Amino acid sequence: MQIRRIVPPLLFIAAIILAACSGRNSDRSSDSPKFLQYYRQGEQLYVQHCSNCHQRNGTGLRQVYPPLANSDYMRGNRDEVICMIRYGNAEPLVVNGIQFVQPMPGIPSLTDLEIAQIVTYIYNSWDYEEGIIEVKDVSEVLSACEGREVVGNKKM
Ligand code: HEC
Repeated sequence: MQIRRIVPPLLFIAAIILAACSGRNSDRSSDSPKFLQYYRQGEQLYVQHCSNCHQRNGTGLRQVYPPLANSDYMRGNRDEVICMIRYGNAEPLVVNGIQFVQPMPGIPSLTDLEIAQIVTYIYNSWDYEEGIIEVKDVSEVLSACEGREVVGNKKM
């Protein structure tokens, strides 16, 4: 009965592979502790720094402040959004067919980690489900826009 001797080791190997795979995925799943920590911190920072203009529920304010909920701009320009949080934006931009011309002030005092937490929050709220956006990825994006002039008067 050779098969009896082979099956248990095979099951053992299968269990190890399964455990390894689920371990690797756990940081990406929306209930991993790291994701939740980013998300909750990001939510607090959003309320503190962004919701005045974009509103708590992300709807923005008519033609003055663009919406974050359901924004085609946000979907297509994640790197630019990351840079915009630090440096602001003075160029007009179009969200869902509507042009916005008010400048958005930058917030240069936010750390790379805080920006990662904010983008994790906004990209997993309303109708977005992009998962955790890690600080190392955010730092890489930020280094590409380093040296831009900060829009607005919220200097460090
Ligand atoms: C003083 C008001 C104000 C604050 C505070 C502010 N924004 Fe903005 N935001 C704007 C305006 C105005 C624009 C449009 C900018 C332009 O047209 O140049 C904009 C544009 C954006 C956009 C791109 C357009 C869109 O709707 O998809 C995103 C994303 C965004 N802001 C996110 C944030 C986040 C996140 C924060 C907080 C860290 C923040 N904003 C803080 C006013 C603000």
